Amino acid sequence: RGHRYKTIIISLLFPTQVMERNVDPEGTLLTFLRKNWTLLSKSWLLRLTGTKYACGRGGCGACTVMVSKHDPVSRKIRHFSVTACLMPICSLHGAAVTTVEGVGSIKTRLPPVQERIAKSHGTQCGFCTPGMVMSMYTLLRNHPQPSEEQLMEALGSNLCRCTGYRPILESGRTFCMESNSCQQKGTGKCCLDWGENDSSPLGKKSEICTKLFAKEEFQSLDPTQELIFPPELLRMAENPEKRTLTFYGERGTWISPGTLKDLLELKVKHPKAPLVLGNTSLGKSWCHDYNSVAPLMSPVKTSCFPGLTIGAGCSLAQMQDILAERIAELPEEKTQTYRALLKHLRSLAGQQIRNMASLGGHVISQHCCSDLNPVLAVSNATLNLISAEGTRQIPLNEHFLAGLASADLKPEEILESVHIPHSQKWEFVSAFRQAQCQQNALPHVNAGMRVLLKEGTDSIEDLSIAYGGVGAATISAHRSCQLLLGRRWNELMLDEACRLLLDEVSLPGSAPGGRVEFKRTLVVSFLFKFYLEVLQELKKLVKLFSDSRHHSEVSDQFLSALEDFLVTIPQGVQTYQNVDPHQPLQDPVGRPIMHLSALKHATGEAMFCDDIPMVDKELFMALVTSSRAHAKIISIDVSKALELPEVVDVITAEDIPGTNGAEGDKLLAIDEVNCVGQIICAVVAETDVQAKRATEKIEITYEDLEPVIFTIKDAIKHNSFLCPEKKLEQGNVEEAFEKVDQILEEVHVGGQKHFYMETQRVLVIPKTEDKELDIYVSTQDPAHVQKTVSSTLNIPINRITCHVKRVGGGFGGKVGKPAVFGAIAAVGAIKTGHPIRLVLDREDDMLITGGRHPVFGKYKVGFMNNGRIKALDIECYINGGCTLDDSELVTEFLILKLENAYKIRNLRFQGRACMTNLPSNTAFRGFGFPQGALVTESCITAVAAKCGLPPEKIREKNMYKTVDKTIYKQAFNPETLIRCWNECLDKSSFYSRRMHVEEFNKKNYWKKKGIAIIPMKFSVGFAATSYHQAAALVHIYTDGSVLVTHGGNELGQGIHTKMLQVASRELKIPMSCMHISETSTATVPNTIATAASISADVNGRAVQNACQILLKRLEPIIKKHPEGTWEDWIEAAFEQRISLSATGYFRNFLNQCAFLQGLGESGMFLGSSVFFAIADAVATVDIAEDFMVQSPATPERVRMACADRFTEMRPRELSMWIHTWQIPPAEGYSR
Ligand SMILES: Cc1cc2nc3c(=O)[nH]c(=O)nc-3n(C[C@H](O)[C@H](O)[C@H](O)COP(=O)(O)OP(=O)(O)OC[C@H]3O[C@@H](n4cnc5c(N)ncnc54)[C@H](O)[C@@H]3O)c2cc1C
Ligand code: FES
Ligand code: FES
Repeated sequence: RGHRYKTIIISLLFPTQVMERNVDPEGTLLTFLRKNWTLLSKSWLLRLTGTKYACGRGGCGACTVMVSKHDPVSRKIRHFSVTACLMPICSLHGAAVTTVEGVGSIKTRLPPVQERIAKSHGTQCGFCTPGMVMSMYTLLRNHPQPSEEQLMEALGSNLCRCTGYRPILESGRTFCMESNSCQQKGTGKCCLDWGENDSSPLGKKSEICTKLFAKEEFQSLDPTQELIFPPELLRMAENPEKRTLTFYGERGTWISPGTLKDLLELKVKHPKAPLVLGNTSLGKSWCHDYNSVAPLMSPVKTSCFPGLTIGAGCSLAQMQDILAERIAELPEEKTQTYRALLKHLRSLAGQQIRNMASLGGHVISQHCCSDLNPVLAVSNATLNLISAEGTRQIPLNEHFLAGLASADLKPEEILESVHIPHSQKWEFVSAFRQAQCQQNALPHVNAGMRVLLKEGTDSIEDLSIAYGGVGAATISAHRSCQLLLGRRWNELMLDEACRLLLDEVSLPGSAPGGRVEFKRTLVVSFLFKFYLEVLQELKKLVKLFSDSRHHSEVSDQFLSALEDFLVTIPQGVQTYQNVDPHQPLQDPVGRPIMHLSALKHATGEAMFCDDIPMVDKELFMALVTSSRAHAKIISIDVSKALELPEVVDVITAEDIPGTNGAEGDKLLAIDEVNCVGQIICAVVAETDVQAKRATEKIEITYEDLEPVIFTIKDAIKHNSFLCPEKKLEQGNVEEAFEKVDQILEEVHVGGQKHFYMETQRVLVIPKTEDKELDIYVSTQDPAHVQKTVSSTLNIPINRITCHVKRVGGGFGGKVGKPAVFGAIAAVGAIKTGHPIRLVLDREDDMLITGGRHPVFGKYKVGFMNNGRIKALDIECYINGGCTLDDSELVTEFLILKLENAYKIRNLRFQGRACMTNLPSNTAFRGFGFPQGALVTESCITAVAAKCGLPPEKIREKNMYKTVDKTIYKQAFNPETLIRCWNECLDKSSFYSRRMHVEEFNKKNYWKKKGIAIIPMKFSVGFAATSYHQAAALVHIYTDGSVLVTHGGNELGQGIHTKMLQVASRELKIPMSCMHISETSTATVPNTIATAASISADVNGRAVQNACQILLKRLEPIIKKHPEGTWEDWIEAAFEQRISLSATGYFRNFLNQCAFLQGLGESGMFLGSSVFFAIADAVATVDIAEDFMVQSPATPERVRMACADRFTEMRPRELSMWIHTWQIPPAEGYSR
């Protein structure tokens, strides 16, 4: 005592080992790694920023590191991946941690895992890459030659927002033993096997290339080269300290008891202190109280009852191994429960969470969506409790799961182990779950089901059913099960059981997560699956039946219900055109060049904004946002926040020396707030933690105002719009409608939150002279940040320099918003005179920054019965949120592009941006086009259905055929469009696939397939021609090295790589002689946002221009000394006083129509083909609800659209009140 912190011994496996002395018990491994700290031996300052913060909740994998521990049971070193953001630093006492920096470095050695992800083009922005590397590295430490399934499992919870997972998996696949070939054209023949002159589905082999990297050039994996587990930790593990370690923090204490006895005594002393195991459930909440961590409890225990007793401290990953072992050892009839648990463990969270989370923590959390508790409950598991007083057993039943005090642990008790009995002959146990996606997603509903049949019969002797996700706790259907005892396992029982279950498991309107009708359907659908599974098992045991008793048969048609969807590694092939064989080898244009930063992404050495080391006297900022949707601000009381230690100041609107944003779009709210999440003020403190804490102490008094508008329909009702209507018209729509059939329909297209992996962040450094500011910011538009800061501070633009090294994903969300954060941080910097760092946490980022505009579209289409569309009238409303932002431009863009690829003579398009009390929506990939085109394509699909023709026929019939004018009066030649359409049909073997789909659907009652092909015409560029300009600055230094600067920002799209390709071609020197350092407003002024799919084109031309100017200047020297080297010429040029620096400039960019562009804005719409393929599949069944009227296609919407006996069972009269409270997932979702 007396010490604030105590020593924790943790070894960071790094070329030099590092021991940490002082730790804050409230800290996580992530904060520990990313802050400055000292090496033990020398006084070096080191900041390990390779491990990234992206979500802070264990959900994205960006912070993955490898932990190595000595396992006292197996006496082996266990390596496992964890998410550093959830790992309490004190829990690592005695462990070794390997971060991405420890794996390799471009400065020293680059191991295969880092080399391969980079060279396989597995990185774009690179923000997720260190996490990917660490997941893969841990896998390879445990399995040097993994299977593809193991690879998928290891990467299952690592998110990437830009690269798409295929190239990442491809890099991992190079380590796998087996590797499937690609399945071109359904022939089973790999595209790489086509002969030289074969005309493969992709084109002539000599012209196309599919090989993006040369696997044979990769270094091989040598497990003997890996860092060893530190001997001192091994010694520590072999002679574990039996004394209790205590770490004191400001607000809590972490106690690591040396023995179980110590722990039990501590529990008596601190009954309220939580027992932190994996900390995946407690998260940040533990730090407010005393804490303790259990000594490792032996994973497998012996028990006198038949079954398996697993120690509560056992991780879920260890539990997976234990169950797999038992399943392999024991007869099948005994392992029914273990199989069901194992099935769920495979999809529960991701590998990192399963490595951290404990069985005890899982059970005790009593989470309503727990995947294991329903299975444990139905299989009569018991909990072995221990306290200083002794031991006792309690059943893991519905009373325990409901948290009834009489059935729960006493405060001084802990869970020691869980006993799971064996199943027996004639007993069947199954587990079911439905989540938003198969991996790394909490279930909507899950279930555990167990039936024991009377030996040799199909009559029910015992039955247990439990559901998760349908109430505040896991719910047992005890009453229904009792009523079904003695019944035979047949259709009559099933009908009765469904009725009973729906009655007993009555979902209230407040069921967690809503989706009440869907959940009710799942309740009975799961039972049906269980019914079928048991029947199938009975079929195997049929011989044991007495002749006189026949059990029900499963019709073959229904069997598809029993097949689970497999998670398989995605297959794909990327093709590109080979360069002309005469192209000089040095010329990189057209070749698949690795991203310039790829190797640094892979080693964690690529610096992002928040990786910049702390600067002198730096302070941190945290934002205070509105908790009301529409209210008057009565008062803001900051006094309590200012009283907190380390808090320096609170910045309000009154501190702004210049302009506080625009009218109706203030940087800091003054009198009124118009949405939850609107920024009101900001706290500046010495630490980020303290700044965040202080925001909670600011007291704001509001007076609520009316109306509060959330939906488009409400906005229309209140005439609440952000800007005037936009309209385009051609032909005579009304007249055309008179002569044709018509459909009138409404379509709702949902919005999308921005989720770039790197949240918004900025570092503002005020300089001592002339009001100068240096701003390091993660933005797509540094010039806009510069301009906004200038007007906010009322200082000229020339005093402000914005720097962008690289951005961890933008997708439109970093066009306008970073200026707001930059300006507020700049006010803080000017007021306090200190550098200010503002890093949004994920919650704030998602709350404040808005996203894609939801759209409500109404269309009226007039068509002939052959599918020819004669007239189309579309009215679109977008939900703009509370300020204008980009909503007017998005409306214009949407209207301009609504015709998509179709030539329809009579058109009328109208659009309006609605003003609602939601955070302002903003630019998002596609800028309104995906939403608008989805309305148009829904209309095409509806016409197809009415005409009884396949949708692709209607698309073909109405597509542009000849040179014509678009609705925005631009001449358009559809040659590329038609060629591309035909190539896609051909290369995808569309028609044979369609036949296969139809055959499949005939044979399968419960599973359906769908197929769709969607054309896309997308004109790239901005509407304002002034935006079509770019500049570049190219310097050649006297050693011949070249520094290129241009106006584009590196967002992961590889613009810097492309610019150097251009410069290399123009200057005829290798890319290795060139460098791009950053984008800066000081080198290239007045830049345009990196957006609208044109930045590489316009900046590339500017770079080309600068290089051509330089080459022209060098020409006389080159001509005079053609045999000279580049360095000779540069030296001569310098001697002759020839300027070696040039500005390049480009303007007059003409809009070009691209049909298919894999990257950029337009690529976004390609995903719609999945929506229409799902719609195609849904169209093959009886439709309960019109599927086409609403996107996105969630599992819920797909299920509810398909009518069957189970959807029919939900009481229709419930529909009204079930939906009234729900927040619509997409606009206007209120049937
Ligand atoms: C990203 C993510 C995804 C997830 N996905 C899923 C999913 O798909 N399905 C699912 O079912 N769950 C999921 N979970 C939840 C996860 O299963 C639980 O968080 C986890 O099992 C809790 O274990 P823990 O060791 O981390 O508990 P902790 O957070 O350490 O502790 C939880 C609680 O249990 C108490 N406790 C722990 N051990 C004992 C003991 N031995 N005796 C008495 N009390 C004890 C603690 O005091 C605390 O109150 C997810 C979690 C995360 C973070
Ligand atoms: S998992 Fe840790 S930051 Fe996302
Ligand atoms: S490269 Fe994966 S998030 Fe950008």
